[in-house]
Amino acid sequence: MKNLFFAAVLYLAFSAIPTAAQTTTLPKPNMNRRTPSVMQTFAQRKSDRSFSNRNIDRQTLSDLLWCAQGKNREDGKLTTPTCRNWQEIRLYVFDNRGVSLYDPQAHSLQQVARGDHRKLVAGAQEWAAEAPICIVLVNDLDKPQKYDERAREMTAVDVGICTQNICLACAAFGLATVPRASMDREGIRKLLKLSENQQPIMNNPVGYAK
Ligand SMILES: Cc1cc2nc3c(=O)[nH]c(=O)nc-3n(C[C@H](O)[C@H](O)[C@H](O)COP(=O)(O)O)c2cc1C
Repeated sequence: MKNLFFAAVLYLAFSAIPTAAQTTTLPKPNMNRRTPSVMQTFAQRKSDRSFSNRNIDRQTLSDLLWCAQGKNREDGKLTTPTCRNWQEIRLYVFDNRGVSLYDPQAHSLQQVARGDHRKLVAGAQEWAAEAPICIVLVNDLDKPQKYDERAREMTAVDVGICTQNICLACAAFGLATVPRASMDREGIRKLLKLSENQQPIMNNPVGYAK
């Protein structure tokens, strides 16, 4: 009986640890990527709601995630500012194979769920599931040391800045996106096993315009 108990504890402990195969290091962000000027990028920024079936290549995904909130300084700070440098925004990438969590410090993706769950992100707006990837922005309210109403407001601001980084990077890279609040939040929370303090706030379906 005792052995069975220890076997169960060991199984639960190790099944929660992701295997090396589930972590993918992304190619280095391409700092020489050819992009329009800042002014042209702002001129091109708009919401797109129809996506072709063209996939996003790994270099483009790498560049996009780095712009969204990649590490851009030796001290570990990011392309996206966050209140008091909480770095509380989690980016989950949904595609037709699974869901991965972006690690800005390692510039890698760690798979956290298998299968195509883009419909959860689309919610009632079914067209959003046609985008090859959907990035879901989750604010982790366990990160701020003092979690109160003001902290909640600040993390909403942080999410807004991050989603705008994604919108502007998409405009610069010729990608289609729209910042969205709609999604099946409960379904996503269950799938990703989020805590009460981790809430999906916004999402960006990303692809090429139809
Ligand atoms: C906080 C926020 C939430 C939004 N939620 C949705 C949404 O759930 N679905 C959608 O289709 N568009 C959504 N949008 C996109 C807006 O409808 C869009 O930005 C607005 O119509 C202006 O169009 P533009 O982005 O092309 O300038 C959202 C935008 C913001 C800023």
